[in-house]
Amino acid sequence: MSSDLPPPYTALERHPMMPVTSHDEAARFNFLTHMNRYISGTLGKGNKLAYEGRVLPAFKAVHGRDPEHREEVRVAMNEDPFHRMWSALKRNTMEMRQQNGRQCVLRQLDELDAMARQFNEHSGLLQLDASVEQPIYNTCVDIHCQPGGYHGGEREGDVTVGANYDVGLFATTGGALGRLNDGGGQAVVAHIKQVMPDFAPKRILDIGSTVGHNAVPIAQGFPEAEVTAIDTAAASLRYGAARAAGLGVKNIRFVQCSGEDLSRYPDNHFDWVQTTMFLHELSSDSMPRILAEAHRVLRPGGLILHVEQPQYGPDMPLLEQMLRDWDAYNNNEPFWSAMHGLDLKGEMEAAGFARKDQFVVGVRAVADPEIFPPSPDGGQEDYGRAAIWNAYGAIKAPVEETVA
Ligand SMILES: C[S@@+](CC[C@H](N)C(=O)[O-])C[C@H]1O[C@@H](n2cnc3c(N)ncnc32)[C@H](O)[C@@H]1O
Repeated sequence: MSSDLPPPYTALERHPMMPVTSHDEAARFNFLTHMNRYISGTLGKGNKLAYEGRVLPAFKAVHGRDPEHREEVRVAMNEDPFHRMWSALKRNTMEMRQQNGRQCVLRQLDELDAMARQFNEHSGLLQLDASVEQPIYNTCVDIHCQPGGYHGGEREGDVTVGANYDVGLFATTGGALGRLNDGGGQAVVAHIKQVMPDFAPKRILDIGSTVGHNAVPIAQGFPEAEVTAIDTAAASLRYGAARAAGLGVKNIRFVQCSGEDLSRYPDNHFDWVQTTMFLHELSSDSMPRILAEAHRVLRPGGLILHVEQPQYGPDMPLLEQMLRDWDAYNNNEPFWSAMHGLDLKGEMEAAGFARKDQFVVGVRAVADPEIFPPSPDGGQEDYGRAAIWNAYGAIKAPVEETVA
């Protein structure tokens, strides 16, 4: 039982840019971290009981067959009182997390903005480009209930959204990502070093970096490389660059640029193109453009890696697909469902990555085990949030193969 408990909020590292939490704010984050684990673990099991005991028999009685698609499961489950209660609790927990983070950031925004400006003016880690717009598919909703999404602000040039994202991610993820919320990036580094021990990238592109939670550990893990962390959202980049400078990281640049238009980078420029928990927030129009650009700027023999939640497929039970889809319908993640239903290998192939050069591997967050208990396994997963992902990758074919 105790191993199911999340670490205390105080386990989070107080890097210089991290907003200061009062006693009550930290207590609320502690409560929300526990609540998230409880909702996904203990309470989450009730969804299966409700489905098997009530929802499925009722569906069969009406239709004379099993559900054929996760949509049918969703519609039927939305009538069930337990599932409705579970869903409402989960939504409320997310809203409380956003409110707690936001009020904490707003009361110290002057100090945070001043510190970010100080770091960013002296570090050289930030390159903004006001001509780059936040895409409509990101501005049309407050993504995962985050006020202002990744790009908004309280006032011109502030760091509200980046700071709120950083201060509350621990609660959102049930404390599973480690003391710098960087368990995903650390896992990628550990995996690549293990399976490609001779890989010595010089130029790494991370697309959709937000505040760099997972781009920074890549820069730290490959100190000989220069990491270019791009994002369309200036508000997130301002915080991210200052956070990286505060952590003493020097081989990373935060650049305002869209993955849809990488024209500032020549063909075959990067040794590695990385995305982490990025693809599910893309519209169906933008994803092929970004993958094609990624293929163009990657050198032959270079690595592309997308860390994401697992794709849905015939082997995944419809109830699990439906529960994983919860964020799409209740947490302002408009593209989550469609993206996870895609043939991602087909999308990668259309962008130029031959199927034979593609691979899929499991990645589990790397976090300090004495403080952070291992992330929950499949049976206890917080659908959409657990620190267990799949990495969809490819090695770009060498030139002679591309030509042939
Ligand atoms: C879910 S977050 C990614 C999280 C991040 N990779 C990490 O590891 O913490 C998605 C990010 O993608 C950015 N984004 C969306 N469309 C983009 C585009 N076309 N080019 C670059 N960034 C984009 C958003 O502004 C947002 O910061």
